[in-house]
Amino acid sequence: MNATINLEKHFPVLLNELISIISPLYGGTFIDCTFGAGGYSEKILEEISNNVIALDRDNSLKKIASNLQSKYKNRFKFYNMRFSNIDQIKIKNIKAIIFDLGYSLNQISNLSRGLSFKSTGKLDMRMGLNDFSCDEIISKMSQQNLSKIFKYFGDEKFAKPIAKKIVKLRENKKINTEDLVQIIESVKKNKKGKNNSTKIFQALRIFVNKEITELINGLIGAYNILPIGGVIAVVTFHSIEDKIVKFFFKEYSEVKNSSRYLPKSISTKRYFNLIRKKPIIPSSGEININPPSRSAKLRFAYKLENGCNFKKFVSNFNYLKDIENLNFDA
Ligand SMILES: C[S@@+](CC[C@H](N)C(=O)[O-])C[C@H]1O[C@@H](n2cnc3c(N)ncnc32)[C@H](O)[C@@H]1O
Repeated sequence: MNATINLEKHFPVLLNELISIISPLYGGTFIDCTFGAGGYSEKILEEISNNVIALDRDNSLKKIASNLQSKYKNRFKFYNMRFSNIDQIKIKNIKAIIFDLGYSLNQISNLSRGLSFKSTGKLDMRMGLNDFSCDEIISKMSQQNLSKIFKYFGDEKFAKPIAKKIVKLRENKKINTEDLVQIIESVKKNKKGKNNSTKIFQALRIFVNKEITELINGLIGAYNILPIGGVIAVVTFHSIEDKIVKFFFKEYSEVKNSSRYLPKSISTKRYFNLIRKKPIIPSSGEININPPSRSAKLRFAYKLENGCNFKKFVSNFNYLKDIENLNFDA
């Protein structure tokens, strides 16, 4: 996210598109798994027959949540929790479950949280309910493991030399955000395109917040608590997230025959109705008002059947989960 940052307002991304997907199901309970600044939740609550249960791992959003609570009373409930635990929510008749992945403007513009390469001071990057911060990784993790994180979670061509310079510099000093940016700049020497630091910061954020494991478990949990006919809608912001969401919906929305000579009746079930294979992306008008929205992709599918085991989904992305579980304690 290296676009001009409007520090005043968080614009909910693809809001109208999302609402048009879920509004036919209005009149019931909606789960907003990524409450953020409450943009989606509030829009859904404008319809008086709707209830919203909102989750967010960031406890600092409680203030925004309590404002909605006062306004919408018992139609709105907020839980400070990670969405990978969504199946702890024991509510029947959920109509839709929504994920708007990544971080909100409130988080990125709070420079002390170290989510942005414009931050100063300690490397942190925690969104909330984390086990460790970025500082611990940069201080302790082996060069080889750092390089793997940069390669797999940032698709960074210069993963190795950047990891090498980090390990060298930390022999003499504690590395802070400015030091990390300087290391990246010195290795990449102002390559054209995105800001030089974007990929490394993305990779570290994914690792610190276990974003891959969160997403995989969150999607499976959402399927498990959603009744048949309900919809799961997900907005992603980078290619790893989008690859996971695309596979999740596509793999289980297609009828798979092991052989084309076998009758259709013994084919496996379809668990999702995927009406639209291509993602919905923001209009140029939206991108003009809110430049960070340019990488957003919205995918959604309706649940058709219970009983999916998601074995293939989980095993397909185990290689990414393994990287998220790399050891960093020397
Ligand atoms: C892009 S913002 C959501 C913005 C929101 N849709 C709005 O309209 O204001 C993403 C939010 O998701 C939260 N989040 C990210 N990963 C999460 C997780 N695994 N569990 C719960 N919340 C998460 C972040 O803390 C952040 O507040």
